Amino acid sequence: MSGSMRMRMRIAHLSDPHFGTVVPAVRDALLGELQTHPPDLILITGDITQRARRDQFVEARSFLDALPRVPRLCLPGNHDLPLFDVITRMVKPYDHYCWYISQELQPEFVDERVAVLCVDATSRLRHKDGALTPSQIERTAERLAELDRPFSIVATHQPLAAVVNTDVRNVARGAGQALDRWIAAGADLFVGGHIHLPYCIEVHMTDRRQSSVLLQAGTCLSRRIRNGIQNSYNLVTLQRDGTERRMAIERRDYDAASGRFVLALQHEATSLMNRQRTRLNGWRLAPQIAV
Ligand SMILES: [Fe+2]
Repeated sequence: MSGSMRMRMRIAHLSDPHFGTVVPAVRDALLGELQTHPPDLILITGDITQRARRDQFVEARSFLDALPRVPRLCLPGNHDLPLFDVITRMVKPYDHYCWYISQELQPEFVDERVAVLCVDATSRLRHKDGALTPSQIERTAERLAELDRPFSIVATHQPLAAVVNTDVRNVARGAGQALDRWIAAGADLFVGGHIHLPYCIEVHMTDRRQSSVLLQAGTCLSRRIRNGIQNSYNLVTLQRDGTERRMAIERRDYDAASGRFVLALQHEATSLMNRQRTRLNGWRLAPQIAV
């Protein structure tokens, strides 16, 4: 593991903007906030558009172009593949996504502080269900072990764990095996979207030997909100000071009255690394702090 013993990094985690259903005032508020306080990295976990239409990707592209010039990672979501145009869906499902958003469907960001790996669980053969293949799980675990940065993050569109029963069917297939392998390989944080429900929980290996943190984002811009839950995004601050590591997570909700995003919830996770630089029991998430 390289880099100094002290570091700090801020990551904005956005998800499910669903261009085509975006609320203009919310988009402007989010752009304003990110331009005023640029994070070190912007991570967007899929469903960039509502129906994978060209005009929706054009709108999405102009949003991306207006973001501050910091490194950015995007993942496709199930909505970014055409649904009704069956031929395009089968022959070149990621055509618009690759043209307007990124050629890379599973990008990664790696510096001396962090490794962020995106894993694409969408498929032209499935409507909305996500699935992680055994080879994706294995390849990602190997990459995590090989990079071994102070912090490791894995991003997927579909969640790897649910907090309400009705979402169990929305969890990516293979999530259990993926969590087991990726936590063991050193993943500190998992981020996702898809269900428009923000939450932050501890996740454990099946044998409970080690734990990590799973963070879900709501929809950042779409009027397709779930049960009145406001538009939101997450701001993750990674900090390392000597052997102590910390992740401070803020959920920021859109507040219609002020027309801005405001701090809604804070989570804090802590971990220890021993002198051999292996992780001891992973992460502990403190009870959440409502603001
Ligand atoms: Fe989705």
